[in-house]
This record gives sequence, C-alpha cells and structure tokens, in this order.
Amino acid sequence: MSDNREQWGSKLGFILAASGSAVGLGNIWKYPHMAGQNGGAAFTIVYLVCILIVGLPILLGELAVGRNTQLSPVGAFTRLAKGSNWKWVGFLGVASAFVILSFYGVVGGWTLRYTIYSLFGGFESLSGNPDASGEVFNNFISSAINPIIWQLVFMAVCMGIIIKGVKLGIEEGAKIMMPLIIIILGVLVVRGLTLEGGSEGLNFLFKPKFSDLTPSSIVLALGHAFFTLSLGMGTMITYGSYLDKKQNLINSAIWVILLDTAIAMLAGTAIFTIVFAMGADPSAGAGLIFVVLPTIFPQIGGGLVWGTLFFFILFMAALTSAISILEVITAYFIDEKGWSRQKATLLFGGVITFVGVFCSLSMGSFNITTALDISFFDFLDELSSKYMLPIGGALTGIFILNKWGIGLFLDEIKIGMEHINLDWNFVKNISNILFIVSALIVCLIIFNELTALVLGISLQEMAGL
Ligand code: PHE
Repeated sequence: MSDNREQWGSKLGFILAASGSAVGLGNIWKYPHMAGQNGGAAFTIVYLVCILIVGLPILLGELAVGRNTQLSPVGAFTRLAKGSNWKWVGFLGVASAFVILSFYGVVGGWTLRYTIYSLFGGFESLSGNPDASGEVFNNFISSAINPIIWQLVFMAVCMGIIIKGVKLGIEEGAKIMMPLIIIILGVLVVRGLTLEGGSEGLNFLFKPKFSDLTPSSIVLALGHAFFTLSLGMGTMITYGSYLDKKQNLINSAIWVILLDTAIAMLAGTAIFTIVFAMGADPSAGAGLIFVVLPTIFPQIGGGLVWGTLFFFILFMAALTSAISILEVITAYFIDEKGWSRQKATLLFGGVITFVGVFCSLSMGSFNITTALDISFFDFLDELSSKYMLPIGGALTGIFILNKWGIGLFLDEIKIGMEHINLDWNFVKNISNILFIVSALIVCLIIFNELTALVLGISLQEMAGL
C-alpha cells in the first residue's frame, strides 16, 4: 500500500504546507480580537506559554506518529496499537474534519466574496459607516443563495488543489500562497504603522493589562493554541505521513510554530494599527474584520488596494487550512479503502459542501438546530473547537504516554537528528513531563467545558473567579 505513497518534494515544501494548515482564520480573524479583548499582551503571553507547553509536544507527537507509520490517522493508530480501540481516535479525527470543514468552507466563501467586493469598489459606500457595513454583512450571510455560491467556489478550488496530489497540489499551492501571505501582511503592517496614530494599536495589542486577564481568557488561550496549530484531528499525522526519514521533526515543528505565531502577531498589528489610526471601535469582536475593516479601508490612501489585499490573504490562509482538513478525509479513503485520490476528494468534498449549505442557511432562512437554541453554524463550530479537537489532542497525548511509549516516540524523533549531540535521557524526562502536563491541562479544559454545559456553571465560576 505504501510503496507508491506520495511524499513531500522538499523540507521547505513540507514546512510551508504544515504552516499553511496552521495559519488560517484562527490567526487573522480570531487571534487579534481575542487578544484585544482579553488583556492584550497578557493574553499573548499566556497563549505563547500554551503553544510551547501544550502545542509543541502534541504537534511533535502527531508528526512522529504520522512519519513512523506512513499512514493517515485511522491506519496509524491501528498499526501502532493493533487490536485495540485506539483506532477510534483516528475516526474521531476524520469526523472532526467533516464538522470543521462544513462551516470553515462557508467562511472561506465569505472571504472570497469580500475580496471581489473590495476589488470592485464595494467598500466605498461603507466608508465611516459601521451600521451600513453591518447591514451589508448581515444581509449577505443571511441570504439564501449568494453565500452558498461563494462557498461552492471556495470548496471547488480546495478540491481542485487536493486532486492534483500531495506534491503537485498541496505543496505547490502552499509554496505560492504562504510567501504571498507573509509579504502582503508585511506590507499591510508597514502601511498601518505609517498611518498617524497607528502605533496606538500596538499598545492595545501588546501592552500587558493583567487586570483584563480572567481565568476564562486563560481557557480561551489554551483552546485556541489547539485550533491555531491544527491539532487534535490528525492533520499533522496525515502531513507527517508524507515525510521521509531524513527530516528533523523538532526543527520542522519549531518552524511551524514560529510561522504560525509570527503571522498571528503581524495580522494583529496590521489590523489594530489601521483601526486605531482611523478611530474605529477596536472591541468589535468577531465582526471586526467583516464589518469594521470595510468601513475604514476607503478612508486610507489606496484603500481599495489595501482592502482587496487584506481579504485576499484571508482567503488564501483559509484555503491552505481547508485543504489540510479535507486531506485528512481523502487520505483515509486512499490508505484504508484503496480509493483513488480523485474519487475520495470529490465524493467527500461534495458531502461536506452539502452539509455546509445547511450551515450557511442557518445564518438566516433555515436552521436545523433551532431546537438546541443555536444556529447550526455555531453548533458545529463549538462542537469542534470546544470538544472534538481538545479530546482528540488529549487522547493523542495519552496514546503516546501510555500505549506507544515515550521511548518509541523518541526513537522516531531521533531519526533525522543523528548528527546532533543531545542528552537523550534528559530529553526523555522532559518529554514525559511535557506530555503529562499537556494531557492534564487539556483534560481540565474539556472537564471545565463539560461542567459548564451540563451544570450551566464552569469550574472557575464555581471557584468564584
Ligand atoms: N489552524 C487553522 C486556523 O488557524 C484551523 C484548523 C483547525 C485547520 C484544525 C486544520 C485543522 O484557522
């Protein structure tokens, strides 16, 4: 089966593809407003600690499981733990991919629509008018047909790239899109910083305000560390499975983390320098990007270009992440069922797009989860980011500690690092501690979410925090 399995063409290609998965709506859309509302740099410090303590071990764990088995999650867990129930962690990953991509594809469609809307001067009439902009956005997302058309285009592009294969599709796509994202973001940061009053935005984002940091923002930072690094659903197992034995996994993981973090910080800087320079409301939360930014781009010189570039990078970031999500499902059907890449991608990409249509409709005309008092879109978002990803991540950590074993995990890590002199006993002790701490922390978040769901009160509220 694995004789003619595809592989990445180069180390750089792999790092760009894996960081393309990590860099997505989470970095450019979610992180800036989460940091802005939860204590600025105080939040960022907690987030960075979470990335290092929880993110790094689980990321390395996923890459090692993937490269060792050269299989996507279900096959990988089956091979490393024959005859056990661990394969269900792999299936959980495949299920999470279904859930996430259903709503992610809808937002991907929005980013595409806003790119074109800006390009044709649509933001002009919204200049300085957040109410009008809010109305345009709400009318768009709640209408029946329009957002679905954009979602279909987004998903079609995503499927088109995956069908071309790991090297010629996913890797080549990332090699074009990731540098573009970094360069354009850099230009936007310079534009923001050179606007009068723009540096106020830096204070907002980077000045620590420990009083705004609540226990729930710490939980938020932890959950986000998972989402932003694409952990807990086997994406990195799948991408790791296309790696050859020459790669240094620790070095690759650090690159992915650095790029993901740097892009989140750059996005935050670009957004808040522009928001502050134009005197817009920085605490607009999730609506900041689609509602507030279109009202301020027309007010800066060359606004049409800046607005279009901004939404274009958001589109590319969403696309490289969406590709990695669908690849988990495609790889499962190729590895385990012997299907062709084309058949697996088209069939399941199609099914996900179909489910996504109901997410889109739930923003306005038709919601299938009305009984739960939540839109189908929000339902799938919460289900995945609050439960499925953390549970998948915690189980992966526990798998490495208890089933595969830190010894075998480190044997895999050592491959590709032969020329580096390390005290492996020390690394083993550190790894043990990190995996135990990360699994414990994640179990705590999940428990906290479950108590909040079942009892209506979270642990920190019970503790009076
Ligand atoms: N990491 C992506 C983001 O930041 C989202 C994602 C989650 C991608 C899980 C793949 C798997 O937007």
